Amino acid sequence: MTGARAAVEGTIPEVPGGSPHAHRRISTPASTIGPWLPDGELGASLAEGLARVETMLAEAVGSEHAFIREAAGHLMSAGGKRFRPMLALLAAQLGDPGAAGVTESAVVCELTHLATLYHDDVMDEAVVRRGAPSANSRWTNSIAILTGDLLFARASDLLADLGPEAVRIQAQTFERLVTGQIRETVGAEPGVDPIAHYLDVLADKTGSLVATSARFGARFAGLDEALVAELTAFGEEVGVAFQLSDDLLDIVSQGGTSGKLPGTDLREGIATLPALFALADDAPADARLRELVSRPVTDDEEHAEALALLRSSTALVRANGVLAEYADRARARLGTVPAGDVRDALSALCDYVVTRTS
Ligand code: IPE
Ligand code: IPE
Ligand code: MG
Ligand code: MG
Repeated sequence: MTGARAAVEGTIPEVPGGSPHAHRRISTPASTIGPWLPDGELGASLAEGLARVETMLAEAVGSEHAFIREAAGHLMSAGGKRFRPMLALLAAQLGDPGAAGVTESAVVCELTHLATLYHDDVMDEAVVRRGAPSANSRWTNSIAILTGDLLFARASDLLADLGPEAVRIQAQTFERLVTGQIRETVGAEPGVDPIAHYLDVLADKTGSLVATSARFGARFAGLDEALVAELTAFGEEVGVAFQLSDDLLDIVSQGGTSGKLPGTDLREGIATLPALFALADDAPADARLRELVSRPVTDDEEHAEALALLRSSTALVRANGVLAEYADRARARLGTVPAGDVRDALSALCDYVVTRTS
């Protein structure tokens, strides 16, 4: 019986040995929305908006088939920061947050993100996501891929009601996101600076959808074109900073608060910025670190050694410096946003992406 057919009949075993690291499953709390969010009137309005998003999300991941309902709802129910819908809702607060399309487009962004998480965990052989077993480790790679596809389909269904321009924006965003994932997988071409390649990948795989989240919120709330463009550019910069901080958390997080298994990038041989800085350096003291990060580190002892070396490296300090630069660039985009609590919250977001790694 094929995996898909077994799933339809509800006989898929929970842990079919699909992941080589299944024994590493840990239980970590799901991530929270984040301390950067405002309270007061703005906070209350965002909470209302988020409640609408949650209701619509729950509908969007439903199915008449019990197994599909479980698989499609799995990561949504596990938690997550809802960063992209929150950014859409926050941008919308500069106009009419109750306007048609604001909630729907925020849901489209989270559904797209969710779908990419199902696929990304297959690519990265990740066993934990949002503090729960990833779909690939709980079921199989096939189930995770197909469930991700289903969520993309649901996003497209919602988009159809938002008009052809929104459909095109989403299509172009998704193309960039996938381009980033493919380019990360194949690595830098010969002669291309690996750090420039890495930053390009971040902009495509993560900056694109964060930018579109801000853009949709701003656009459907009726903001003028110039402000929509500024908020889109802000989303792009803060999105890159967010991914950079995520990559640093993979190295520095020890308490399991990310809801993911730290050190996954090292294990998969994905050289993130600290590893790239170490590789570009020729200091003799870092020779062992360079040797370790130049390939996937699958041996448990070597993995612990690589993490320890990276945590105390100057490469990590330099990477933190680049993160701070991106956060500053994002903050600089807020100059044309009207002064007030929305701008303050967006600025607090820039602080949060830097401080969450320390
Ligand atoms: C994880 O995104 C993948 C990245 C692009 C960094 P989030 O950190 O937003 O994940 P959730 O939604 O909170 O689980
Ligand atoms: C995920 O990148 C980016 C997308 C899903 C597009 P990562 O592989 O670095 O993210 P995590 O660490 O698994 O969340
Ligand atoms: Mg991953
Ligand atoms: Mg990945």
